[in-house]
Amino acid sequence: MKENVERSQWGSKVGFILAAGGSAVGLGNIWRFPYLAGENGGGAFVFIYLITVAIIGFTLMLAEFTIGRYSQSDAVGAFRKIDKRFGFIGFISVIAAFFIMGFYMIVGGWSIAYIFKAVTGAISTTNPDFLSGEFNNLIGSDIQPIIWGVIYIIINIAIVSSGINKGIEKASKILMPALFIIMIILAIKSLSLEGAMEGVKFFIKPNFSEITPRVVLNAAGQAFFSLSLGMGCMVTYGSYLNKNENLKKNAIIVPLLDTFVAIMAGFVILPAVFAFGFEPGEGASLAFVTIPAVFTTMGAGIGTIFTTLFFILLTIAAITSSISLLEIPVAYFIEQKKFSRRKAVIITSSIVFIMSIFASLSNGSLSNFTIGGKNIFDIYGFMTSNILQPLGGMLISLFLAWILGKKKAIDEATNGGTIKFRLADFWIFLLKYIIPILIFIIFLSGLGIFNI
Ligand code: PHE
Repeated sequence: MKENVERSQWGSKVGFILAAGGSAVGLGNIWRFPYLAGENGGGAFVFIYLITVAIIGFTLMLAEFTIGRYSQSDAVGAFRKIDKRFGFIGFISVIAAFFIMGFYMIVGGWSIAYIFKAVTGAISTTNPDFLSGEFNNLIGSDIQPIIWGVIYIIINIAIVSSGINKGIEKASKILMPALFIIMIILAIKSLSLEGAMEGVKFFIKPNFSEITPRVVLNAAGQAFFSLSLGMGCMVTYGSYLNKNENLKKNAIIVPLLDTFVAIMAGFVILPAVFAFGFEPGEGASLAFVTIPAVFTTMGAGIGTIFTTLFFILLTIAAITSSISLLEIPVAYFIEQKKFSRRKAVIITSSIVFIMSIFASLSNGSLSNFTIGGKNIFDIYGFMTSNILQPLGGMLISLFLAWILGKKKAIDEATNGGTIKFRLADFWIFLLKYIIPILIFIIFLSGLGIFNI
C-alpha cells in the first residue's frame, strides 16, 4: 500500500505525552470516577479499578500504540492495512467514539455552564437542596444544556479543524500542566477539611464483601473509559508518532498520569462529601452539587474562586479528551473516505450534535423513555464503557498477538530492536491469552446485570 507522505506527526515527545495524557485524563477521571466509586462501594470499586489498570493499562496501551504506528493509519485503516478482514475492529471504535461524544459534549456543556454559575455567585451557597435544584433545573431543561453543549462542541471543532500540530498538540501543551497544578491545590484544600478522613477511608479502604459482578463490570469498564482504551483512540494517536519514539515509555507514563489524576479527583471530592454529610451515591450530580457547597463553606469569596477553578479545570480536562474522540472519526473520514479535514470535522460534529440532543433531552422531556431502567444518556455510557470498549480491547489484544504476530509487534514496539524490552514475550503472552480471557470472564459474570 502506498505510504501517505502527507500525514502529520507530533512535533515533540512531550507534545505527544500531553496529548495522549490529555485524551486519557478527562471527565472520566474527575466527574465519573468519584461518583462511580461513590455508587459502587468506594474502596472495593477503587481496588478492582486499580487491578484492571495495572493489567490492561500498559499492555493494551502499548498494543494500540504499536498497531497505530506500525500501520500509520486511522482506526479503521490500521486494522485493514494489516489484514483486510479486520477493519470491523476499527468500526467498533468509530461507533464507540460517537456514542461517548453523544453524552460527553453535554457534560462538557454543563461544565461550562457551571463556570458561569460559579463566577456570578449563583451557586455560592451551602444549601444542598438549592444546589440539587440548580443542577436538576439545568440538566432537566430542554434548551439550556443544548445551548451550552453547542458552545462546547464549537470549541472542539475549532481545535480539531486546526489539525494535529497546531490544534491538538498546542492546546494540550498549555492545558495539561494547568490542570495538574489546579488539581493539586484542590486536593490539599479538600484533605484539610474537618472530617475529611472518613471520606479518605471510604475511598481507599476496600470492603471485600462489596465486590459484586456489578462492581467488577463497572470498575473494569471505567478503567477502559478513563484510559481511552479499546476503541482505536490510542491507535489513532499512535499513528501520528514518529519511528524514533519510545512507545513503551509512553505506554507507562500515560496510564500513570491518568491514574494519578483519578485518585487525586477522589481525594478532592470524596473527603469533601463526607466532611459535609453529602451522599456518596448521589450519581452524576456529585461533582456539580458537592463542590460548590464545600468551597462556599470556606467563605463566600474564597469559595467562589475555588469553585470557579474547579469547573475551569473540569472543562479543560474534558476538552483535551473530547478532541481525541472527535479525531477518531475525523481521521477515518479523511483517510478512508478522502474528505478534507474541514468536511470531516463538520460531518462528525453534526452527527454528534444530533446524538447529544437525545442524551440531553433524556434528562428532561424524554426521561420516560428508558431501556432496562436506563435513559438514553446512561445507555450511551453503559454501552461504550461496559460493552464496546472491553469488547474492542479484547479484539485489539487478540489481533496484535495472533494476526499482526509476535515478531512484527515486538519489532515495532522496540523500534526494530533498538529499545530494550525484557518482558516482550510476557507482553505478547498477556495479549494472546490472559487479557482476552479476563475480559471474557468479566463479561460473563456481568451478564446477569445487563438488563438492570
Ligand atoms: N478517557 C477520557 C476520559 O476519561 C474519555 C475517552 C474515552 C476519551 C475513550 C477517548 C476515548 O474522560
